[in-house]
Amino acid sequence: MSGQSAPRRTVLKGAVLAGAAGLGVAACSTESKLGHAKPLPSTPVNLGTADAVPVGSAKLYREQRIIVSCPAEGKYTAFSAQCTHAGCVLDKIVEGEGNCPCHGSRFDVTTGEVLQGPATVPLPAIPVRAEGGELITGTGTGKDAGAASEGPNA
Ligand code: FES
Repeated sequence: MSGQSAPRRTVLKGAVLAGAAGLGVAACSTESKLGHAKPLPSTPVNLGTADAVPVGSAKLYREQRIIVSCPAEGKYTAFSAQCTHAGCVLDKIVEGEGNCPCHGSRFDVTTGEVLQGPATVPLPAIPVRAEGGELITGTGTGKDAGAASEGPNA
């Protein structure tokens, strides 16, 4: 009898571990679906004063899921702040790199390029312009949106 219970315990342990692993995958999948459910803004979004993004810097607008950088006076580029790996929103910018808190991907905030995986696809560019001293972004902002307007959605 005791010879049979040991293998059975092993099988049960394996089933419990497999179940736990399955829950982890399910949670990650749910997160991914939620993350990808938010499209890029299709209508103009006013991000507030352009002075909030000084020359040579970038700012994360986490609520709007947008990163804006200012590489030169009067020139702005914007990208989705939603990670291309599984859809998490980037949580901070450190030394020009946008950080994804979920699995550690990092992106160049001036180009959107992947600097560190697991993400392999750059952040999508979003048109942006300064109008009346305010930053307006979104795919409906017009054709004079600078380099960002040449992104995949342009
Ligand atoms: S969601 Fe996985 S690294 Fe960003």
